Amino acid sequence: MEEKKTYYITTPIYYPSDNLHIGHAYTTVAGDCIARFKRMQGYDVFYLTGTDEHGQKIERVAREKGMQPIKYIDKIVRNIRELWKKMLITNDDFIRTTEKRHEEVVKKIFQKVYDQGDIYISEYEGWYCTPCETFFTERQLVDGNCPDCRRKVEMLKEESYFFNMSKYARRLLEHIDQNPQFIQPDSRRNEVVNFIKSGLEDLCVSRTTFRWGVPVPFNDKHVVYVWFDALINYLSAIGYGSDDVKFNKYWPADVHLIGKDILRFHAIIWPTILMAIGLPLPKQVFGHGWLLLEGGKMSKSKGNVVDPVVLIDKYGVDAVRYYLVKELSFGQDGYYSEEMLINRINSDLANDLGNLISRTAGMIIRYFGGVLPGGGKREQIDEDLIGTAEQVYQEATEKLEKLDLSGYLTATMKLVSRANKYIDENEPWLLARDENKKNRLASVMYNLAESIRIVLILLTPVMPTLAERSNKQIKLFADPNRLKWSEAGQWGLCKPGIEVSKGEPLFPRIDIKNLEEEQTGEEKKNQKEQVSIEEFARIDLRVAEVTGCEKMEGADKLLILRLKVGDEERTVVSGIARHYQPQELIGKKVVLVANLKPAKLKGVLSEGMILAASDGRGIEVLTIQSEIAPGSRVS
Ligand code: MSP
Repeated sequence: MEEKKTYYITTPIYYPSDNLHIGHAYTTVAGDCIARFKRMQGYDVFYLTGTDEHGQKIERVAREKGMQPIKYIDKIVRNIRELWKKMLITNDDFIRTTEKRHEEVVKKIFQKVYDQGDIYISEYEGWYCTPCETFFTERQLVDGNCPDCRRKVEMLKEESYFFNMSKYARRLLEHIDQNPQFIQPDSRRNEVVNFIKSGLEDLCVSRTTFRWGVPVPFNDKHVVYVWFDALINYLSAIGYGSDDVKFNKYWPADVHLIGKDILRFHAIIWPTILMAIGLPLPKQVFGHGWLLLEGGKMSKSKGNVVDPVVLIDKYGVDAVRYYLVKELSFGQDGYYSEEMLINRINSDLANDLGNLISRTAGMIIRYFGGVLPGGGKREQIDEDLIGTAEQVYQEATEKLEKLDLSGYLTATMKLVSRANKYIDENEPWLLARDENKKNRLASVMYNLAESIRIVLILLTPVMPTLAERSNKQIKLFADPNRLKWSEAGQWGLCKPGIEVSKGEPLFPRIDIKNLEEEQTGEEKKNQKEQVSIEEFARIDLRVAEVTGCEKMEGADKLLILRLKVGDEERTVVSGIARHYQPQELIGKKVVLVANLKPAKLKGVLSEGMILAASDGRGIEVLTIQSEIAPGSRVS
């Protein structure tokens, strides 16, 4: 049996210093789209993602939270995995750099490069940017700040190991020159070439000023530099040094998909490490643009991060994935706003695609009792539609091969527009009035169903649930989860006799007014009407001790708390079950609104309310840490 062609694609491994935002989600969704496309083409795909867990930044963040780094990271990594599940990411593995399988490989490679004389000890003095985990020379700083993120840098001087990167500069330049596909898009190649030509310095690959990293195997005063450690994930995850069959099957990687900000690490440092250990280089490093907000970059410190989970809950996973992939043109930056997202959903998905499917389904039900008729003699206008379908298939395939994802969607949506136009040109409602035109009407319906079948296959890499959902209206696929790409390149595969029924709209139109109302509501919430001190004093806030707590049966958000308030016992129902386990609260002293009117929630009488802070995502119940007695007043 002929062996399947393989395709190994990776995302960067993310820093678990915080939950990921929609910008990070872009990289992983784009990678998933390519991985799904390649699987549909019959490749044996290995899609890798993971987390980059060592380094000073992570150590600091964890310390600030008063936690052990690994405890802190474990929680964030759980959220990241959940996020990928929610975004329907089909990664074949998830590598964490704190896993033994990875650390062993880092040690092995460090030792090997050292033994062959490409790593040596010396002293390092330079400017270090902790958020970027990078050293800079004085010359590279911009106004004394980090040239990448513009934040403050600090002067570090330490004994360090150095990797003899400069030795490989010439070979790397030759490789880039002879392999134009190595750095993509083309526009990014010059940046790298110029950087190498301006003179590569040897790379500092160990640190002694903190402990959170892989120890240097022969000198445990040092830990391995986080980028040297992280890049190796691309090898450790596929069994370098432990599973030769798997490793040889997938290496060299077909593409490392990354954001443009980390191009130099992947197009300079990484290839030189690989040269040093005698491995072939990845076939391609693709640096995509950034998803920006109107005000610039998304960052936690600016408080403008967009949480993909919230968007998916509101708009559905297919629509959010579509938007992301469409928004970033080949290698360029793109902009995000919720309004743009809604407009995109309304125009491309609700108006064009959703309508095409529901109109076609409606007509097959009306004119043919919900059974798809067969096609008849082809007219010029049909040839034209079929021609467009063929062209679109070619173009979508070419664009995807080039990793021009937005180009692939633009191409695909041309067939949607063409098919909508085909309805208007044929005026099926007029054909339906004339019994003699029944055959022609049948052909028109068949051609529409065929166009839809092709569009759905082409859109599956980006909208993985679309074919299945649309199948509920027009049952075009026996198994919508096993679609073959090549079937979009053939006209006429759809069998007459297929059942058609009325279904829910695939992409309901979103009223932009709702968003505006939500936003003004949000503003109002932030600037509530002022109250006098007397008015405030009417609220009786008390310290209360939680003496018992349990989940309310049949209500996944609610907890029932028993509280001791002075000598009194109270029962309070609180909507925090998604954020707290009952036993976490028992023994805590919380703040109770003691004179709130009692209310019944799911049949349980709630006698007050406990205070909690919320930023729309997380919730924290306010607690009293000291010995203050339950029943004391809070004011
Ligand atoms: N840990 C390193 C990567 C090591 S790979 C061996 C890292 N992590 S990161 O979490 O900071 O970023 C991961 C990826 O997310 C990068 O490719 C980065 O470009 C991407 N993005 C982060 N914010 C982004 C946007 N706003 N838009 C698009 N991609 C962005 O770097």
